[in-house]
Order: sequence, then structure tokens, then C-alpha cells
Amino acid sequence: MRYTVPHPIPYQGSKRRLANAVLCHVGQRKYKRLVEPFAGSAAITLAAASRELFPSFLVGDALQPLIALWQGILQAPAKMADQYEALWIRERSNPVAEYYLIRSEFNIDRNPAKLLYLLARCVKNSVRFNPSGEFNQSPDKRRTGTQPKTMRAELNAAHLLLQGRSQAVASDFMTLFEQARPGDFFYLDPPYQGTSEGRDQRYFKSVSRERIMQGLALLNEKGVPFVLSYDGSCGNMNYGEPLPADLADRILLDVGRSSQATLNGKDHVTIESLYISRCLKCAGSHAPLLLAHYSPQVSMFA
Ligand SMILES: C[S@@+](CC[C@H](N)C(=O)[O-])C[C@H]1O[C@@H](n2cnc3c(N)ncnc32)[C@H](O)[C@@H]1O
Repeated sequence: MRYTVPHPIPYQGSKRRLANAVLCHVGQRKYKRLVEPFAGSAAITLAAASRELFPSFLVGDALQPLIALWQGILQAPAKMADQYEALWIRERSNPVAEYYLIRSEFNIDRNPAKLLYLLARCVKNSVRFNPSGEFNQSPDKRRTGTQPKTMRAELNAAHLLLQGRSQAVASDFMTLFEQARPGDFFYLDPPYQGTSEGRDQRYFKSVSRERIMQGLALLNEKGVPFVLSYDGSCGNMNYGEPLPADLADRILLDVGRSSQATLNGKDHVTIESLYISRCLKCAGSHAPLLLAHYSPQVSMFA
């Protein structure tokens, strides 16, 4: 079945294309809550809500203005849409130059509507922060960003899906792991090791492999099921080292051609790992049956 899923926050790294591959692991068991501690654009939460797979949702992220944006979507989407529209129109009066002014303002006031505007307008919708925590991505000079009317419709549709049953929390992921309770299902999408360690620390906060392993051990101890997106590869480039097999089962997903590689004239396929917690096996998840719905890619077991 096809679902129309809103996606108000343009965010490079959004997992909306993987929604079927992730959500098929929910199986037939009834959970009380989906928790997404590395939410970003919360693509999996929105996809799960549109399929009515969980009665409630918790969206978490360490980036405070992003969570303020989610709170705005949950409580007052029309106000967020008005502010976005005003920023969009403001830039049209003085294209590009005004983008840089709004970016400087955001780096002082951390206004969530400004973050939404910057994400919609910047190169490849890709969030980038410098080591001082300032947003430093450039504007896309060939596009003007999501039209205000489209953005209003997306914000409103996300609000209607999630209102009254969702919470947005600015937090380090470990706090949410510590608060995990029976009836929760976690979807985890931390920054890739390749993008969160070393020189290219594009996100506001990075996450070490050791902390992820500690967190997964904690969820396993509590018997709280999770699906985790982690390492991957594109052509002969590997992003991150696989996690130890005792923490979870690993599936490799062929997510198709990399658009960046295609632009560079290469024909590279991107492979992403999905780690499935062992307790999902015990719960009799119907994953293998439903993976057939994951099109056009096939899954391989490592
Ligand atoms: C790969 S993105 C998630 C993308 C998301 N799955 C989506 O569909 O848009 C990783 C997210 O983790 C957040 N993050 C980084 N370090 C974090 C931490 N220590 N605790 C919680 N969130 C963190 C980043 O701000 C970023 O939004």
C-alpha cells in the first residue's frame, strides 16, 4: 500500500526512502510508543504515524532549535508557516545577501523558523555547523527553496498526523535510552561515524561508536527493541566500522545509486546497514515476509 507522508523539514540524510525497510520490523506486536532519539526530520516517525503503527511518538534530537521547530509543528503550525513565509519573501527582495543575514541572525537567536528557512534554502538541504556551533552552510544559488504555500501544507499535514500524541524533546540520546520503558520501540539514526568523527563533523553534536555500543547494551538489557541505521558504503568507500555481532543482527540494504556519485560520472551503489535488536526475533517480527515490499532494493544478510 502507498501512503502519503508529509515531510516538512528538508534534511539531508532523511530516512524516508528506508521507511518500509525499517517499519517492517515492527511486526504484529503492539507497542505503546515509537522513540526517535536522533530525529532530524523524523522521517520514520512520520511514516509510522501515517501507517497508524504506534499510538504515541517521542521525537528527540540534541539540536535544540530543531526540537523547537518540532514543538512549533506540534503546537502552532500556522505560526511557523507565517514566519517561514516572511523569511522567504524577505530574501526575495535581496536574494542570497539576505540569506547570509538570516544565517547570522540564526547563529545568535537560534530561532526555529530561521532554521527551517536555512534548511530549505541551503545547498542540498544539508545541515552543517562549524566547531563553534554556528550554522555555516551556503545558499543554493540555483533554487529558491520550498515555496511558502507548499511548506504551509507540509507543516499542517505533519501537525495533523502527530498532534495530541507526540512529544519533542531536546536531549542527548543517552538520556532517552536511560528513560526507555516497556512498550517502547526505538528507531536510531545517529550521524555516521564517517561524518561525525574526525575533520568532517557536520552535525551540531557527534556520537562516538563507544557511546552507541553502551546505549545499545542498555536497550538490550532493558529488553527494549530497536532498529538502528549505522555504517554503510558507497562504491569502494566504507562509512564506519560494523558494530559487534552480539549487540544486534545486521542486514545490508541496497539503497540504489548515489546521486553524488552519479553527478561525478560514477555508477556507485550505496549500501546501508540496518541493525535489528535480538528481542525483535523473540517477538516474532514479520520482517522477512514484509521486506518484499521494500522496492526496488533487495536486502542481503551479512
Ligand atoms: C543522520 S541525522 C538523522 C536523520 C533522520 N533519521 C531523518 O530522517 O531526518 C542524525 C541526527 O542526530 C542528531 N544528533 C547528533 N548527535 C546527537 C546526540 N548526541 N544525541 C541526540 N541527537 C544527536 C543530529 O542533530 C541529527 O539531527
